[in-house]
Amino acid sequence: MQEKKSIHGSWASRWVFILAATGSAVGLGNIWKFPYITGENGGGAFVLVYLLCIALVGIPIMIAEVFVGRRARQSPINALMDLAEESGKSKSWGAIGFMGMLAGVLIFSFYSVVAGWVLQYIFSSASGALNGVSSEQAGELFNNLLADPTTLLMWHTIFTIMVVIVVIGGVNAGLERATRIMMPALFVLLFVLFGYGMSTDGFAQGWSFMFDFDFDKLTWDAVLVAVGHSFFTLSLGMGSIMAYGSYMPKRASIGSTVLAIGFLDTLVALVAGLAIFPIIFANGMDPAAGPGLMFISLPVAFGQMAGGQFFGTLFFVLIGVAAWTSAISLLEPTVAYLVERVGLKRSSATIALGVVVWAIGILCLGSFNFMSDVTLFGKNVFDFLDYITANIMLPLGGILIALFAGWVVKKKHASDEINLKSEGLFNLWLFVVKFIAPAAVGVVFILNL
Ligand code: PFF
Repeated sequence: MQEKKSIHGSWASRWVFILAATGSAVGLGNIWKFPYITGENGGGAFVLVYLLCIALVGIPIMIAEVFVGRRARQSPINALMDLAEESGKSKSWGAIGFMGMLAGVLIFSFYSVVAGWVLQYIFSSASGALNGVSSEQAGELFNNLLADPTTLLMWHTIFTIMVVIVVIGGVNAGLERATRIMMPALFVLLFVLFGYGMSTDGFAQGWSFMFDFDFDKLTWDAVLVAVGHSFFTLSLGMGSIMAYGSYMPKRASIGSTVLAIGFLDTLVALVAGLAIFPIIFANGMDPAAGPGLMFISLPVAFGQMAGGQFFGTLFFVLIGVAAWTSAISLLEPTVAYLVERVGLKRSSATIALGVVVWAIGILCLGSFNFMSDVTLFGKNVFDFLDYITANIMLPLGGILIALFAGWVVKKKHASDEINLKSEGLFNLWLFVVKFIAPAAVGVVFILNL
């Protein structure tokens, strides 16, 4: 049988797939969100739950997404429908893909606002405006930014355009090139910052905040946030990784590739936490400061460091790139679907989608100023979209994909495609996606109600 190919292109090699998927996974979720939700949820015990979720639920579901995508070589909705049909089941399983597209659109709209903050900080840092700031001044600068819708709108617009341009360029042209250089540089700089954190007298406290488990601090809501974040950070539950999997070369081994991506993503989050918390404690700041945590702690650290203006600027550039390579993957499944289904040109599909996410993004940035009194279920629009996507839509999508891979697709099809070295390992994976992952996430959902 001739090998199926995606009409959208394919990654040049397994290595490029790893880069692209890691580019999708590593983003604001790791460097901005993970530290701040760890701070809000009391530290150690939360981190432990998050790590367990990555290993027990995230990795197996990522394997499921990659194999479904690669076997069908189509956008998520069509991939799910095709594999269901191939196994003689109902095509309505494709509906999971619709929820995923909606999640991607909603996530993009607030993601782009935060990425906009990062872009602003590149300039603040480069211009020297952050040199030597105290923690109070850093807090004030951040609040001033939030209070200024015009500046927020400008950066949100620029970021959306940056993403649209790369997505129009397609799989090979834009994406590969950006990730190849920038990801390794981000790693190096994170370690530099980690080294700085180690040299401060907040390091021991930062370390124990992250790794000493105090289960009294853990609530069911915190567990749900940890579960949700494990999906968010690995880009699971909405079809991003499935879409990327559909461009993956046939020969590459899915198991080891997914392990590498999960490992790198977790490493970046932990190192980011170990860089940020020592700075927080050394300067007497509040670890539970919320979404501004990174934006008030890093300027203080760079402000005190030799060469801080340079390193600070570089660091914000790299975070911006990490956000960029992630945001691309939020749009890709929907763009691929519009091309396949509606027959739009890639460029038209991307621009149309870009306009939609840009418009919803305006509501998110307004949450901090002109719309601050608009609330949904007691949250502003920004927090509400973050909450329902990360804590509800992605885990729900993830469970459904697990159930799909475990119960709908014929075992033979899954094992052919995943092609693990040992049959024992395959059976373990199958057991996890059939029972463990859906049950674990389901229980957390129910206990939260
Ligand atoms: N994984 C990205 C991050 O951690 O920043 C965010 C993200 C990208 C979530 C793509 C979901 C997704 F489909």
